[in-house]
Amino acid sequence: MPSVLELRPSARIYPKVRHAIPRIEWPAFADDVDAIIELKKRRNAVVLAHNYQTPEIFHGVADIVGDSLALARKATEVEADVIVLAGVHFMAETAKLLNPSKTVLIPDTGAGCSLADSITPEDVRLLRKTYPGVPIVTYVNTSAAVKAESDICCTSGNAKAVVESLGVERVIMLPDEYLAKNIAAETHVKVIAWAGHCEVHERFSADEVRQLRDNHPGVVVLAHPECPPEVVAEADFSGSTAAMASYVATRQPPRVVLLTECSMSDNVAADHPGLEFIRPCNLCPHMKRITLGNIRHALETMRHEVTIDPSIAERARLAVERMLSVG
Ligand code: 13P
Ligand code: SF4
Repeated sequence: MPSVLELRPSARIYPKVRHAIPRIEWPAFADDVDAIIELKKRRNAVVLAHNYQTPEIFHGVADIVGDSLALARKATEVEADVIVLAGVHFMAETAKLLNPSKTVLIPDTGAGCSLADSITPEDVRLLRKTYPGVPIVTYVNTSAAVKAESDICCTSGNAKAVVESLGVERVIMLPDEYLAKNIAAETHVKVIAWAGHCEVHERFSADEVRQLRDNHPGVVVLAHPECPPEVVAEADFSGSTAAMASYVATRQPPRVVLLTECSMSDNVAADHPGLEFIRPCNLCPHMKRITLGNIRHALETMRHEVTIDPSIAERARLAVERMLSVG
């Protein structure tokens, strides 16, 4: 007869995370997983989780997972009353912008982003004055107040399409200097960049990639476009977190490295046990603030609710909706 532990919903989840979490450690997660599954029913809630969330969140309690673009798109289809955003603050704000009537919770309000912190609405207004008439394309990794000063948003998954959809010779692309330069290398549109950087991806270097190839012959290197251009130039492929996952799923590289946040490889590896993942990676301290414990607490206490000043919400929503209308 199965034991009580084996009958719990968390027991069905374990096989998915066993490559990342030793069996002996699973009971420490299982209580929270079971409680969150129950609380989601009680609150009519869903958990949206970014690809950088740890496996016990990503495979254990998330209802919807993806890159920033997928999370924004899928947020518009949510029917539940409550969205818990397992990710960073700008992602929760984007979900709220697109779902003003729903309760959006972020389990830790300190889950920020170095890119979002690199630019203020005043900076954007100054850029507009400096370059009159040049459209401002703003990465979703920004505050709602910065989005409100922008013409259109983009993510790493659609940046080139968004830039080219505007039909202009020149755009301002902010705040990620490297994303802007990486996109500029792929399009005829001239790109004026800001000097923001992702504290996780800026740490990868071209030397590191060359060393990886020496140490792991045949390795296929995938780099997020927030990496410096010289890193992207050394890689075999560059794309959003969803594009990297899909590259692995379709091409099945026997030996692969994902130059991005550490949990990404853990989550993708779960679906491809036969592939070898080489793992130099960098942790995002902001993403790692989200835990099973604080997701559970968010659902128990209905905190922390994300609110957006109505005076900026409408303009910020417009910039996000314009992005979503680009194919
Ligand atoms: P993606 O949109 O590619 O998932 O990237 C989000 C992010 O924060 C990368 O650092
Ligand atoms: Fe921001 Fe970089 Fe963390 Fe993504 S990985 S949330 S861009 S700091």
